[in-house]
Amino acid sequence: MSCQSSEELNELLLEAKHYTKYGTVADYIPALKKANPHDLSAAIYYPDGTCLSAGDIQQKMTLQSISKVLTLALALMDCGEESVFHKVGYEPTGDPFHSILKLELNNPSKPLNPMINAGALAVTHMIKGKNIEERFQRILHFVHELTGNSKITYSQEVAKSEFETSFINRSLCYYMKQDGIITEDVEELICLYTKQCAIELDCFDLARIGVVFAMDGVEPMTGKRLLPADIARLCKTFMVTCGMYNASGEFASKVGIPAKSGVSGGIMGAVPNRLGIGVFGPALDHKGNSIAGVKLLEMLSKKYSWSMF
Ligand code: DON
Repeated sequence: MSCQSSEELNELLLEAKHYTKYGTVADYIPALKKANPHDLSAAIYYPDGTCLSAGDIQQKMTLQSISKVLTLALALMDCGEESVFHKVGYEPTGDPFHSILKLELNNPSKPLNPMINAGALAVTHMIKGKNIEERFQRILHFVHELTGNSKITYSQEVAKSEFETSFINRSLCYYMKQDGIITEDVEELICLYTKQCAIELDCFDLARIGVVFAMDGVEPMTGKRLLPADIARLCKTFMVTCGMYNASGEFASKVGIPAKSGVSGGIMGAVPNRLGIGVFGPALDHKGNSIAGVKLLEMLSKKYSWSMF
């Protein structure tokens, strides 16, 4: 399946591209420093299988925090809503994604939601499998199903680079281990989590994931249900309330669609019942969201009335 390059989308993309100069690529994961801050690409995937693109959509990115939506869906399928939300909360934090603050303030240190790093680590902890490898293969297989692309794998370089520098994420894990939110070996969990974050794909793949969420869990071309509708809806709720971290309120006001960002510069969006969108622009704003990617989504939402609100 391929994507048609679109004049109309390209015009908006070129306009949004000006904003790349106001952002910077993530550097706390050393391997991400190699990204070109001026890159911007986007793909829009519709339920009838048509796809529009602009920019170099061959560019690969790692999922990073976008993976948090997928592991949440898997953990909910594995353990059910009650067990998952026994360990993580439903509420936005207003804090940066790697903040440890609320873990220290709340006793027991239950993370406030599954989209911040602490919550995502607790969620990955709940994914079933006999060992790290099997659990990772289940996550990867889910990505293959959602994208229809079984070639997707992970970047060993990015996974290793993050594993070697995950000092804050390890700290979050130890806080949670103290209170029994996490019971497994922290090194093993960090190994699994850094691999899930390093799964590598392009914005066409992201748009295909988006459309499955937009269609409440059904892959529209095959009609196959990949996740239960109530789980897809729950994931979209978190995308709206926490998907863009402590910029989620502004994003909901200006764009108004469920979306999830990652520090690689990816954004996966789902316009309910209409389309999925994938954006890649590695220059980030100070909250860790793609600066030009968010601008592009703002322009698209305004032009095509995408907002749910
Ligand atoms: O855990 C981390 O810090 C990264 N692997 C993912 C963080 C992330 O993508 C935050 N997004 N904006």
